[in-house]
Amino acid sequence: MLDVRFVPANIKDYQAIVVIDVLRATTTMVTAISNGAQFLVPVETVEQARSYRQDGFLLCGERGGVKPEDFDLGNSPLEYTKDVVKDKKLVITTTNGTKALAKAREHSKNIILGAFVNFSKTLEYIKKFDDILFVCSGNDGEESFEDTQVAGAFIEKLVSLKEYELSDSALISLNFWESVKMPTFTGKHSRVLKAYGFEDDIIFSQQLDIFNTVVIYDGEKVIKGE
Ligand code: MLT
Repeated sequence: MLDVRFVPANIKDYQAIVVIDVLRATTTMVTAISNGAQFLVPVETVEQARSYRQDGFLLCGERGGVKPEDFDLGNSPLEYTKDVVKDKKLVITTTNGTKALAKAREHSKNIILGAFVNFSKTLEYIKKFDDILFVCSGNDGEESFEDTQVAGAFIEKLVSLKEYELSDSALISLNFWESVKMPTFTGKHSRVLKAYGFEDDIIFSQQLDIFNTVVIYDGEKVIKGE
């Protein structure tokens, strides 16, 4: 069964859950791990993140798209270069993405971060599962034009590999992806990010397979999957 949630609600138990926040949290976390970060601890609040400061963590994330003043890094994947993150421990809090990860944790032992920048490697990893739920992180409880494209792109590839039952939301995502055919980031959050001057993040996040890493969440830490 392939299933999709357009927002992180009504999540049920699944063999695997792919959490998607392509603009920008999952793209950013995939970039951090691909550039050599040891791990990221996703937390729900800014206060929780601050409590990691004394343990030598880099404080990362955003509120309203913007880095809290005392944090080391915001939520732009372009900040997570090798020079900055290699061998570092990171704690991250974002408006939607880290909350979706926390919800997914209750419902699967296999949680994978979904993005376009490492799409093929992730596909290779998830094709072993028969029951997959794609959880789009959305925007403050609203559906995301961009996250839904990632879900549809995975579904298109998976159904070409073996037979799956598709939920209606999986069918909708597939049909939507087939209508755009390539990452097309023109939804509400893209427009908001553009207005904040983050146009380069949009361009970066639309790229396919610039990383050959699969990134998973073990319920505590976001790490490289094997
Ligand atoms: C989120 O988690 O809500 C997003 O990644 C927000 C953002 O683009 O910074």
